Amino acid sequence: MADEPLVLGIETSCDETGVGIVRGTTLLADAVASSVNDHARFGGVVPEIASRAHLEAMVPTIQRALDTAGVKASDLDGIAVTAGPGLAGALLVGVSAAKAYAWALDKPLYGVNHLASHICVDQLEHGRLPEPTMALLVSGGHSSLLLSGDITSDVRPLGATIDDAAGEAFDKVARVLGLGFPGGPVVDRMAREGDGRAIAFPRGLNNAGDPAYDFSFSGLKTAVARWVEAKRRAGEPVPVADVAASFQEAVTDVLTRKAVRACKDNDVDHLMIGGGVAANSRLREMAQQRCDKAGIVLRVPRPGLCTDNGAMVAALGAEMVWRDRTPSSFDLSADSSLPVTETHVPHTDFHAHAHEALK
Ligand code: KG4
Ligand code: ZN
Repeated sequence: MADEPLVLGIETSCDETGVGIVRGTTLLADAVASSVNDHARFGGVVPEIASRAHLEAMVPTIQRALDTAGVKASDLDGIAVTAGPGLAGALLVGVSAAKAYAWALDKPLYGVNHLASHICVDQLEHGRLPEPTMALLVSGGHSSLLLSGDITSDVRPLGATIDDAAGEAFDKVARVLGLGFPGGPVVDRMAREGDGRAIAFPRGLNNAGDPAYDFSFSGLKTAVARWVEAKRRAGEPVPVADVAASFQEAVTDVLTRKAVRACKDNDVDHLMIGGGVAANSRLREMAQQRCDKAGIVLRVPRPGLCTDNGAMVAALGAEMVWRDRTPSSFDLSADSSLPVTETHVPHTDFHAHAHEALK
């Protein structure tokens, strides 16, 4: 294996233009330009606005990351980029930029999986991930339990949400409560002033016979909306902090219960939690309590590394170089629904493909 490689990572799967630089498992720079404010008045991310914002932010963000890290582009050992999953147009901006830099600098290109990157980022904070590690990934687009071995090649899905993602539920509940977008951080803040036991909101897929590792948050979201609506109709004040806290309690209860169960069933004693919702303070607290009780080591990156960023892509890219994985080819394309099992998009022989297609 080579020395600790110096890799630049580009992330544009949603509304954050992230550019990170790492050396092995050491973070050197994490530059992020967010278009979140441009989407706020629409109550959600507008793909076309995100793509345009990526285009404008890309070159300055790359420059900022290089300046912060104090390295020259020519010193890099590779360029990594999120190839998917995510918004197609947004991903395309990152993939095109990565290709352009890799081509111009004559560096290997690694198209990597956004979800595997959310797991790998923890290496920047807590050192190399043990194999196996259970990963609970909770973001605006995903809620999954994944069993990972070698993070560059072995990520197995155990369960996922059957409807809304956890972050989506936070965003929708925030909208019902009139708290703005994105909902997670503000619900988290409000909940600190409320009582999580005030209202018994339902826990999805939590009965005997339900799929053990799948999640459902749509029933919970509807229950919160109905409860708030009933109060308003009755002309009573809505106890916003209690609703936020009770909703948050229901989400974190199910997430942590299922994650600990997945660890126990599979004999895994390390749990990592990643994705934007892993920034949630109650989730972190409850996960720590339940892991301590079950003898599981919990690894959660600091909040800034949980939400989308370029460092996570650079972290996985560096691991790809370190483990000598085959780079992607220059016909790499963005894949909005890249399966989680495809940790990266390895080199494809373009001519062989074309030949196959013509047969
Ligand atoms: O990973 P991420 O930045 O983007 C996606 O890949 O989706 O996650 C964004 C999601 C949003 O739904 C946001 O509301 C949620 O993460 N989020 C939180 C918190 N911070 C961000 N949810 C709960 N508590 C938080 N503190
Ligand atoms: Zn994400």
